Amino acid sequence: MRINNKEILADTQDTKIIKLGIHAPYIAQKAQPGQFVVVMVKEEGERIPLTVVDTDKNEITLILEEAGLSTKLLGKLNKGDSLYALVGPLGHPADIKNYGKVILVGGGVGIAEIYPVAKGLKEKGNYIVIILGARTKDLLFLEKELKGISDELYITTDDGSYGRAGFTTDVLQELLKSGVYNLVYAVGPIPMMKKVSGITRDSGIKTVVSLNAIMLDGTGMCGSCRVTIGKEVRFTCVDGPEFDAHLVDWDELEKRNRIYDEKEKHICKLYGL
Ligand SMILES: Cc1cc2nc3c(=O)[nH]c(=O)nc-3n(C[C@H](O)[C@H](O)[C@H](O)COP(=O)(O)OP(=O)(O)OC[C@H]3O[C@@H](n4cnc5c(N)ncnc54)[C@H](O)[C@@H]3O)c2cc1C
Ligand code: FES
Repeated sequence: MRINNKEILADTQDTKIIKLGIHAPYIAQKAQPGQFVVVMVKEEGERIPLTVVDTDKNEITLILEEAGLSTKLLGKLNKGDSLYALVGPLGHPADIKNYGKVILVGGGVGIAEIYPVAKGLKEKGNYIVIILGARTKDLLFLEKELKGISDELYITTDDGSYGRAGFTTDVLQELLKSGVYNLVYAVGPIPMMKKVSGITRDSGIKTVVSLNAIMLDGTGMCGSCRVTIGKEVRFTCVDGPEFDAHLVDWDELEKRNRIYDEKEKHICKLYGL
């Protein structure tokens, strides 16, 4: 669990996005696109889920955005340091096959999560259209890598500092008006995934989202990642993380993801973060 490489992909006043190469041969040899690991930074720390963005023989790549206590503590580790614990690969792999024409939408750190899926879908011969969205130019990452595997790439920034001003969903709406697509795959902030789902619902295009429910054990035992899918209770860690976007109870997910906000802010202050 040693950190072999650390690279700062984005560093702004608000946040940092960091890429870590971690020695984890057993996970590297098994992980498939769409799967994740659960990380503990230190013994008394919480467990956080992070997507396996890439693998080689002995190493997995993780990309994290500093969001709260655990991601900030993880971001403070350096090359040569070791994680306290790492478990994975967890969750169902993405359903990688030939669909035809696919649009992948990545918002914020969700860009990291669409990369392995886009790579897998490209290898299966799909026509790949990628839409990336970031709040501002400095928070955009993996552009070169995603350009290399896409047939069309569109970039949006909320503030218009790069690409087109606006949201990923503006581009999605336009593409769907003028073309026929067989799959839309989206990962990003909940409001973005909810909007994507609303846009594709009427046209009936198969739409898959990877949900970021709050997780603890990651193995189906604690229930913290509970979501409602088509009126049925599902655990994101063992039944997902991917689900049919049109069946997700988005309001419940939004509410549940905010449960610990105040507590986390308080704990961050205690750590001086
Ligand atoms: C399957 C899965 C894969 C993920 N992959 C990545 C990844 O590759 N890179 C990455 O940066 N993040 C990823 N996340 C989100 C990441 O787990 C959270 O950002 C992290 O748990 C926040 O922990 P914290 O202690 O740093 O922040 P907290 O203080 O706990 O939370 C900070 C903010 O993040 C929100 N948050 C808390 N937990 C989650 C969560 N599980 N998902 C999303 N937001 C959350 C809170 O509502 C709060 O607003 C993934 C989540 C899931 C479920
Ligand atoms: S994280 Fe505990 S059941 Fe999914």
